[in-house]
This record gives sequence, C-alpha cells and structure tokens, in this order.
Amino acid sequence: MEFVVDFERRSDVPLYRSLATAIKAAISDGRLRPGDKIPSVRMLCELADVSRNTAHQCYQTLIDEGVIEAVIGKGAFVRKALAQDVNVSRKSLHQSEIEKPQKAPRQTQMIENVLSMEVDVLTHQKTAQALKHQMPSLADLPLQSIKRAMAKHSRFEDPSLLAYSGDPFGHPNLREAIARYVLRARAIKCSPEQVVISSRPSQQMLDLYCRLFIEKGDLIAVEHPGYSQPRQIFQLHDARVLPIPVDESGLQVEALAALEKPINMVYVTPSHQDPTGAILSQSRRKQLVDWARQNNAVIWEDDVENEYRYGSEPLPALYALDGGERVIYQSTFWRTLCPLIRMGFVILPANATTEIIRSAKYMLDRDLPIVEQLVLADLINDGSYERHVREMRKKFTARRMTAVHGLTVSLNGLLSINKNTAGLHLRVLFDASIPRDLILNCGRDAGLSITGTQAYYLCDAPQNEFLIQFAHVEEEDLKQQIDLFSRQIKAQLNTQFCMPDQVLAARPAIPFS
Ligand SMILES: Cc1ncc(COP(=O)(O)O)c(C=O)c1O
Repeated sequence: MEFVVDFERRSDVPLYRSLATAIKAAISDGRLRPGDKIPSVRMLCELADVSRNTAHQCYQTLIDEGVIEAVIGKGAFVRKALAQDVNVSRKSLHQSEIEKPQKAPRQTQMIENVLSMEVDVLTHQKTAQALKHQMPSLADLPLQSIKRAMAKHSRFEDPSLLAYSGDPFGHPNLREAIARYVLRARAIKCSPEQVVISSRPSQQMLDLYCRLFIEKGDLIAVEHPGYSQPRQIFQLHDARVLPIPVDESGLQVEALAALEKPINMVYVTPSHQDPTGAILSQSRRKQLVDWARQNNAVIWEDDVENEYRYGSEPLPALYALDGGERVIYQSTFWRTLCPLIRMGFVILPANATTEIIRSAKYMLDRDLPIVEQLVLADLINDGSYERHVREMRKKFTARRMTAVHGLTVSLNGLLSINKNTAGLHLRVLFDASIPRDLILNCGRDAGLSITGTQAYYLCDAPQNEFLIQFAHVEEEDLKQQIDLFSRQIKAQLNTQFCMPDQVLAARPAIPFS
C-alpha cells in the first residue's frame, strides 16, 4: 500500500512514538480506515527512513494500544477508527488543507452561465435511478462475446494493437469497424479518419464543437420538447437557443424555415425524437437537409435509439442524405452495451471541420481505454454486436406490447399512450384530475420506472405527462409491475377521491395532443 508517513523527528520524543502518532493521525483523518492493511515493517523502514527496530517498536506500541492488530501470515490491519481528538503531534496535510479559508473564485462569464443553469447535481444523482433504465439490464447484455473478446486482448496476442497511437480520434481498429458498421446500418459513407470515438459524445464532442465554432449570440435551433443537455451546453457557450415544435412526424421543419433568421446549427434526434418518440419522416428529412444547404447551417444529428424501432423500416440518416457536407452525426452504445462498454462516436464532415477538431482534441482530450475499444471493434467485426441488437429489438418489441396492453386494459380512461414505434420508453398522459405525486408514488411502490417530462420543456410542460421505461424489465415482471401500479392508482382514487370503480371504468379515453 502506498502511504505518506507524515511525522516529525523531535529530539524530545522517541522516534517510534512520533511514527506511531503519525499513523494514528492517518487513521483519525480517514487516510487509513478500519480493516486497511498497513505497510509491513520492512516497507515502513523504507517509507519513513527509520531502522527496523524503530518500525518494530512503533507497531508494538500500536498493537498494545489496540489501534492495529497483527494477523499471522497476513500482516497488520487497522482495528478501529480513532476519534478526531487523538493525541497527534501535528495536523495532517489533509486537515490543514480543509481548514484553509476558501477564497471565492473570480466570477467569469462561464461561471455565471454554469450557475444560471441551476444544474442540481445531487438531485440528478437521485434521479439516476431512472437513467439506469435507459440502458439494457445486465441480463440482456452479450456477456459471452464481451468476455471472449476481453480474454483475447488480455492475452496480448497481438501486442502491436496495444501500442500507444496518440491518435485523438481513437483506436484505428474501432474507427474502421464503425465506418463499416454505419455504412451497413445507416447508409453513411465515411472514412475512418472522420470517425471520432468519445466516452460521452453528447457532452464532450458537442462542447468541443461549440468552443471552436459557436460564438456568443449565435442562433441554435433545438426540438421542443427536447433533450435538455445539449440545450445547456449551447447556453454555456452563450448561444441563443430557439425552440422548434415537434409533432408526430418529428421536428416541424416548416416552423424552422419560417423563422428567416441566420441559424448556425440545428440539433435534432431523427430516429427517436427525445422524448416524444416520433420518427422524422422521409419528406422532412429531405426538407431539413435542403434547408441547411440553402441557409449554410450545420445539422447536429443525434441518432439516439436508431437501433430500436418496432415495425418500421429504418430511414437513412440525415448524414447519408446530405452526403456528409454539413451534418455531424452522433451515436451512442449506451442504449445497447452500457454499463460494460460506455462509449459513443461522432462522424464529422469530410472538410476542414474535421482537421480543426482533430488539432483541438489532440490538445484537450487524447486517450481512451485501449482494451475497451478493441473489444468493441471485435464485437462489431464478428457480427455479435448486430446480433445482440436484433435480439434486443425482438425482446423490446414484446416488452413494449406488454406495457401498452397492460396499461391500456387496466387504466382505460385514466391515461392515453403515445404509441410511438421506436425507443425504450412509452410517453403516457394521465388524466389531469390525478395528482402527479400519486402517480409517481404508485409507480415507485410498484417498481415501475416512471418519470415526469418537465426537464424536456422550456415552458408549458404538461403536468401529467410521464415516460415509462419498459425495455429493461422481463415481460412477466413488467406485467406484475403494471398490474400493481394500476391497482394502487385505482385504490387511491377510490379512497382519496371517492371515485368508485364504475365511474373509473366509464371514463372516455384522453386524447394525446
Ligand atoms: C437524446 C439523447 N442523446 C444522447 C444521449 C447520450 O449519449 P452519450 O452519453 O453516449 O453521449 C442521451 C442520453 O440519455 C439522450 O437522451
């Protein structure tokens, strides 16, 4: 164990005592915790530059005081946490740092922007429960294929693959695999040199792009309702965000065109509009690409959840329609392989943008874990990745039908379901008379993953609109969760609002706007 022995050599205190006091200080301030193994006598001699005798005496003192215990054949371990008021000769580095008066940082424009966004990290961590349902359950992951590829690369069969390349866009093998995959799956023609691997493209690559290409006051159009994170990144960079309405065919491109403003960029989720689930129609795709050409605007295509469509043929990516001139394409493996593989990628246009981003990324953010990239490249190249996606699509189709059927039958008249044909969640609108908290509490008690959609709206969020995540739950469990959820909602309405079953059953269906 690495350990800083922070002790004073004083002529009036035996060396072994100073050393023991320093170890007690490390325990009391948490650097060493109960159960931690402490350095061996030989190692303590090296770390503290003391004789073997001194190190021995120090440990004997700590054993006598009940601070550490020796386990034969294993070493010595911390026995208990000591109180802060332990008799230490001087404060540890750690404590003295904490007690330094905090000077307020200089208020830069970026700090002002960050604070104005009121990003509440702690609240976000609480709702992370819902986020984890946007990825497959562990039971659904292609564990055998991942283990096989991991084992292969851990054997160093080809050490040249593990050599440091220094390429800021990622490992060439993975970039080649992705370039071939997007050609098959999304009709995108690009070279591996245009592919950028990133652990979170929707944050890191979007931020990098904005730093380089967006100036204060630039206009960026976003879907409304829409994913809040890109909006926040644009605001961090002092861009002006223009919300554009969406309907059942996705972004309303006519509304965008009607603005007649010099828009620099539009951020769009065409395969699965987040959160409505609408798929951008083919005619709107063409319209959007034409509009971008005529207006010299960039399209940031977030192709999230393109893998999960139910009963509809995949439409070509905007990048493919545009021929890679003014579209930046982003996709993620979060929805398919997380948490075992947490990566995504961006495909840049074949123009100067790519070289500018390459230079900037080289300076700011260069390396990714090599083995993880090689494993992913293997999964894509040997067909396991696409097989996994096909299997997931089949399972999710069945789970989606279970959710739609269960909710429709058991809560008829109390909700309407937006039956979009893609994605991992259902958008559901509950009757306005049902209190929002009641819905959330019943969902939580039934184990159903249900969250409100407020974060997707800049204004006028519907009070009782929710997303129900269905994809991570086995059909049988999903049935039970929905059954319990529905019974609890009805029971609460019966007791709290005196709505008898006959009244509940007779209510007409609620239209989705
Ligand atoms: C619309 C949308 N795009 C992208 C992402 C995340 O992609 P990544 O984290 O790989 O950048 C999310 C995450 O939930 C999302 O909702």
